[in-house]
Amino acid sequence: MKYRELINKMTLEEKASLMSGKDFWQTMDIERLGINSIFLADGPHGIRKQAAAADHLGLNESIPATCYPTAATIANSWNVELGETIGDYLGKEALAQKVNVLLGPGINMKRNPLAGRNFEYFSEDPYLAGKLAASMIRGIQSHGISACVKHFAVNNQEERRMSIDTIVDERTLREIYLTAFEIAIKEGKTKTVMSAYNMLNGAYTNENIHLMREILRDEWGFDGVVVTDWGGSNDRVAGLIAGNELEMPTTAGETNEEIIAAIKSGNLKEEVLDECVDRLLELIFTTEEVYKQPQREFDVEEHHKLAQKAAEESIVLLKNDDHILPLQKDKKVAIIGDFAHNPRYQGAGSSIVNPTRLDNTLDSLNDSGITSIGYEPGFDRYGKNSRKKINKACALAKEADVVLLYMGLDEVTEAEGLDRQNMKIPQNQVDLLSALHEVNENIVVVLSCGAAVEMPWIDKVKGLVHGYLAGQAGTKAILRVLTGAVNPSGKLAETYPLRYEDTPSYHNFPGKEVSVEYRESLYIGYRYYDTANVDVLFPFGFGLSYTSFEYTNIHVTTEGVTFNLTNSGEMAGMEVAQLYVGCQSTDIFRPKKELKGFAKVFLNAGETKTVLIPFDDKTFRYFNVKTNKWEIEEAEYEIMIGASSEDIRLVESHFVAGTGAPLPYEKVKLPSYYSGKANNVSVEEFEELLGYKVPDSKWDRTRPLGYNDTIAQCQYAKGAFARFSFHAITFAHRFLWKIGKRSTANLIMMSVYHMPFRGVARMTGGIINMPMLDGILMIVNGRFFKGLRHVLRERKKMIKKIKVEQPLARMEKEM
Ligand code: BGC
Repeated sequence: MKYRELINKMTLEEKASLMSGKDFWQTMDIERLGINSIFLADGPHGIRKQAAAADHLGLNESIPATCYPTAATIANSWNVELGETIGDYLGKEALAQKVNVLLGPGINMKRNPLAGRNFEYFSEDPYLAGKLAASMIRGIQSHGISACVKHFAVNNQEERRMSIDTIVDERTLREIYLTAFEIAIKEGKTKTVMSAYNMLNGAYTNENIHLMREILRDEWGFDGVVVTDWGGSNDRVAGLIAGNELEMPTTAGETNEEIIAAIKSGNLKEEVLDECVDRLLELIFTTEEVYKQPQREFDVEEHHKLAQKAAEESIVLLKNDDHILPLQKDKKVAIIGDFAHNPRYQGAGSSIVNPTRLDNTLDSLNDSGITSIGYEPGFDRYGKNSRKKINKACALAKEADVVLLYMGLDEVTEAEGLDRQNMKIPQNQVDLLSALHEVNENIVVVLSCGAAVEMPWIDKVKGLVHGYLAGQAGTKAILRVLTGAVNPSGKLAETYPLRYEDTPSYHNFPGKEVSVEYRESLYIGYRYYDTANVDVLFPFGFGLSYTSFEYTNIHVTTEGVTFNLTNSGEMAGMEVAQLYVGCQSTDIFRPKKELKGFAKVFLNAGETKTVLIPFDDKTFRYFNVKTNKWEIEEAEYEIMIGASSEDIRLVESHFVAGTGAPLPYEKVKLPSYYSGKANNVSVEEFEELLGYKVPDSKWDRTRPLGYNDTIAQCQYAKGAFARFSFHAITFAHRFLWKIGKRSTANLIMMSVYHMPFRGVARMTGGIINMPMLDGILMIVNGRFFKGLRHVLRERKKMIKKIKVEQPLARMEKEM
């Protein structure tokens, strides 16, 4: 242990005190030993440091910072150098705001297009997500502070996120849900990892020995700090045993006492605590080093420019019929759509950034070279129908050569804590598009949203530019793509299915009351559509350019693959070339192809470059559940180079010697997995894959409610008061939604409805403690007066304790 000497000087109480926050954002300090607090702040695409009132819901304003494009957007750049630069700039801003740990990037897999935080995550592919995350982490940590990769792991939905048990087979866990984390940890060398709220195969991730000890620490060699997600600690001692150093936010010392009691009773070895303290001290000391020198303000203008560059590389051109784009200079353009005036540029929740400035399309038109003949909002942002708005927009469209229609999802629809209800763009926007199409067929849609949407209206548009959530400088970047000042080079990091019903997890999302079963196994995103031959709207890896690229001369060696890439068009541009690998043996089920490498290459018109994509330890491996190890199957592999997952340009066969492991499965028992048609797997077949019976997915309504049951379960509580409260909450939600107070309504769902009872104590910073919660639960379970007396008695005790402890602490400090 590095800090043995220092730890030896600490009392048991002092050591335990370090294991949870001092307040909402800071760690505990021990003045007499020179241990300072360090500051943790969101977030993934810009700093959210709250100087005054603190919360994890994005409610209270934070200090202004650059709002870069969100992860879902950056992923479309497929550019790891850009990722590192963004990380570097985030790091500079973190320094200016005196942040020690930046709570990002988020790298959970996009298992389902409706998952509410998809805008905050990179991709449906672990390799791409891992590489981008690692690059961002390197950038952030180059400043001596820490990134914090989150949410570890298998946190792929918002619905009941603090209690849901995700049931995943071991191979899928390793190959799909953990690989991005593995890359972020081994290649990005993140100093901090945030555990997820959910359970994984029966144990909270923060207490999950298999995840936290066996994989994270023992296999991957992670020696940094694990912090809980805010309010996500369940059993503090179990978390500590699994290697959780820091519980956030503060519990006003309550869980420190649990640690002390466990040590005193012999249930926990002091050595375990010491190891956690040692690792936390390393994080504290290393991330405060940089602050020994005075820190400079960051250059707001320069950072805004980087946000624009990042957006320019991430915008995806999805359709360009009749070469409607780039817009010709002399064309008269009608600008239509509320998003042109009021851009949609980031998501809602804990990642929300208070931008240093915010560009909007209308203000940027003058410099763009576009000849605008006017603007009409055309629709109400939150879905209300308005014939008048449509008529006005059509009148303007009639006068134009080209209509630029800004469509998208509003910020209430894409929010942390809530999954989307459907994959549609609001109907009033689609109605507007249909009406516009009647009067002018030259329509270019600019889309702003952070996740895949259905587009049954696609035939009505000639051009489609997807800006995703492009950050504070995004609108200018989009204009530059529209005019051809920038040649688009973004490619989709997720598949766009034709209909939501086509998605592989359609039947198993967001799961039932207790659990969600990942029955589709490895087949998420393109791995499913491609293998099961399901047509999609836009495949993974797809994106158009104003130029064209030719692929020739593939050559495969044991080291990797080389090929020639030529810009065969008239304009300089960048191409994202993708390496996919498919195994020709059918002994072990697999997706038809999987992404194993990529390169973003700049080429002038007419230029040719030889591109090398090296193989690595992930190119041929699969996780064998019999040997419990990564293995290689001896077989011929197809080495494919593509412009997207569907558009494969070059193929070569390549033999790879295997590791000789026994076959892990009995083929006949897993027909859906071997055929890849895994969108509706029976429970029996899923259990065969898992190797055990799935737990009951319904709430046990006969049991009294406990710490880990959610407020929503009050609907069947014994106590009339609890049932009444449940109805009051649902009524308030519905009422607020109806009168248009949608973000407040969302807050009820996020912070009350799905909150487990323990969260009441964990998130109130000591105002309600666990003994008081016991009283609340008595009320919930039908013992109203006994419960109320208990709450009042415990509250009295708590106040008395504070009165005794505070003067004592003051005296100790003064001595
Ligand atoms: C989110 C985390 C975030 C934390 C602090 C949680 O609700 O899940 O991503 O870092 O709050 O704001």
